[in-house]
Amino acid sequence: MWNISGGPQLSNEEFINLRNFIKEKCGIFFDENSKYILEKRLSSRLVDLKIESFKEYLFFLKFDKRREEELLLIYDILTTNETYFFREEYQLKAFSDEILPEILSKKGDSKSLRIWSAGCSTGEEAYTIAMILYNKKDIMENYKINIFASDISQRCLKIAREGVYGQNSFRGEKDDYKNIFFTLTEDKKYRIKDEIKRLVSFGHLNLLDKRQIAMLPSMDIVFCRNVLIYFDNESRKIVIDNFYNKLTNGGFLLLGHAESLINVSTAFIMRHLKNDLVYQKP
Ligand SMILES: C[S@@+](CC[C@H](N)C(=O)[O-])C[C@H]1O[C@@H](n2cnc3c(N)ncnc32)[C@H](O)[C@@H]1O
Repeated sequence: MWNISGGPQLSNEEFINLRNFIKEKCGIFFDENSKYILEKRLSSRLVDLKIESFKEYLFFLKFDKRREEELLLIYDILTTNETYFFREEYQLKAFSDEILPEILSKKGDSKSLRIWSAGCSTGEEAYTIAMILYNKKDIMENYKINIFASDISQRCLKIAREGVYGQNSFRGEKDDYKNIFFTLTEDKKYRIKDEIKRLVSFGHLNLLDKRQIAMLPSMDIVFCRNVLIYFDNESRKIVIDNFYNKLTNGGFLLLGHAESLINVSTAFIMRHLKNDLVYQKP
C-alpha cells in the first residue's frame, strides 16, 4: 500500500511493531499521534533500499547483515537534535555557583572533575560547560577536568567534533562569550577555540547500553537535558538507573526543565537550590 505522497504506507500493525523495535533499541517512543511522522521520516530509507513495505523494512532492520549500519542511519533520522549554547541559564547558574563549589569542597585529595553531557547533540551543551569552567581560574589550575559528551547520532557527533556553528546555536540572552571563545570563519560561522575544545571529548554511546556505560569512569555531574522527554517510562528507568550507578556519592544529575524523576526513580534526593531544582545521589 502506498501513501498519498507516493511512498509506502505504514499500516497500524507495522507501526506498532516498528515503534516497539525502535523503543527497545534506543528508548525513543512514538505514540499513536506520531505514526505519520515515523512514516514520513523513514520512507526515504525504503526508497533508497528499494524496499516496498515497512514490514519488509522491519525484517531488514532485524536480520539483514547491514542492520547495524542501518540502525545508525535511522538514529540520525529519528532523533530530535535541537540545542544551543547556554540553554536554560538559571540551571547553568546553579551549576556554576552552587553545585561546583559543593562538589569541590568534598573532593579531598582527588583533583579530578568529571562531567558527562549525556545526549549532547551537536556539542553546544558540552562546550557551554567547558566555557563556564574555563572562566574559573582556581578550578583550571588545580583540577584535571574531563568533560565527556556522548550522543547516539553520528551525524551530530561529527558536527560537535568540528566545533563550527551558525547563528542558530546562539539563542541565549547574553552572547558576549561569542567574541571570546570563538573565531569567525570566512563564511561567517563561529569556530570554537582550541582551549575550550580540548576540555571536551566526544563519544558515540547509546544511553540504554549498560555494557558501554559500564566502561565509563565514575562522574561527578551528569547533564541529561531534553533527552528523556522523547523516551517511554520503561526506557527512562533504565537510563536513570545507569546514571545512578555512574555518579559518585553526592554527585548531581541535571535534567531539562520539562523533565523530572516523578514515576521514574526515588533513588535521588531532590535539592532545592537557589537557582534551580536538581537531583543528587545520596
Ligand atoms: C534535544 S537534544 C538535547 C541536546 C542537549 N542536551 C540540550 O539540552 O540542548 C536530544 C539528544 O539526545 C540524543 N539521544 C536520543 N536518544 C539517545 C540514546 N538512546 N542514547 C544517546 N543519545 C540519545 C539525540 O540524538 C539528541 O541529539
